[in-house]
Amino acid sequence: MADERLIVALDFHRFDDVKNLVNELGDSVKFYKVGMELFYSVGAQVVEWLKSQDKKIFLDLKLHDIPNTVAGGLCSLMNLGADILNVHAAGGFTMMKIAADKLREESARQNIPCPKIIAITVLTSINQTDWNGMGYDLIKISDQVVRFAKLANSAGLDGVVASPQEAKLIRESCGEKFLIVTPGIRPAGSDINDQSRISTPSAAIKNGANYLVVGRPIRAAENPKLAAQKILEEIHEV
Ligand code: C5P
Repeated sequence: MADERLIVALDFHRFDDVKNLVNELGDSVKFYKVGMELFYSVGAQVVEWLKSQDKKIFLDLKLHDIPNTVAGGLCSLMNLGADILNVHAAGGFTMMKIAADKLREESARQNIPCPKIIAITVLTSINQTDWNGMGYDLIKISDQVVRFAKLANSAGLDGVVASPQEAKLIRESCGEKFLIVTPGIRPAGSDINDQSRISTPSAAIKNGANYLVVGRPIRAAENPKLAAQKILEEIHEV
């Protein structure tokens, strides 16, 4: 059985590219992430197709708006059948709590499985210069990540998206059941691209990550299946 801890990011805008990669990776990968590039160009049919291929889906649309709007948006997305949905923790405690409560109420009312709902803490692409530029120079990025994670936990969310570098601190403050999803994964020697706060697959798992989101290191590899298999081996060796 495929190891569900690896989530491959389908950052494409053409449906054919999605089909080619998913078919090429075959049974080795079970979990895929559909983000805004793909969802805005192809729409709900990509989620339906992945489900028809018996895949699991993290629908990474990073909702960020007033509580009522985010709650309504999540309820609409729930009907597509994704396994994980997300919002920005920067939307605040009230937004996260109302959104999570409404989603659970609505799934119970419709008698359909409730997706996990997780919060983005601080994007893994944000470096210290970006951070200071936004006026946050008085607080450390890692402290803010932990603060957002605790806020999401107290609002009843299932987990967070964070850099693998912060996974350990989050695990210590939010407990064993809290989901930690880490992008910013780069196998040793691979290109960093626009990411900043990165780690290798094994370091992320050692630090407590439940799921690793990997995009370009697999998608842009000469042999994506081999790249995925190497990452899976590294995960298993931990
Ligand atoms: O190609 P790469 O492995 O950098 O892709 C990482 C994926 O994870 C992208 O789809 C990006 O949108 C997403 N992501 C991220 N950092 C976050 C949340 C999501 O890189 N904090």
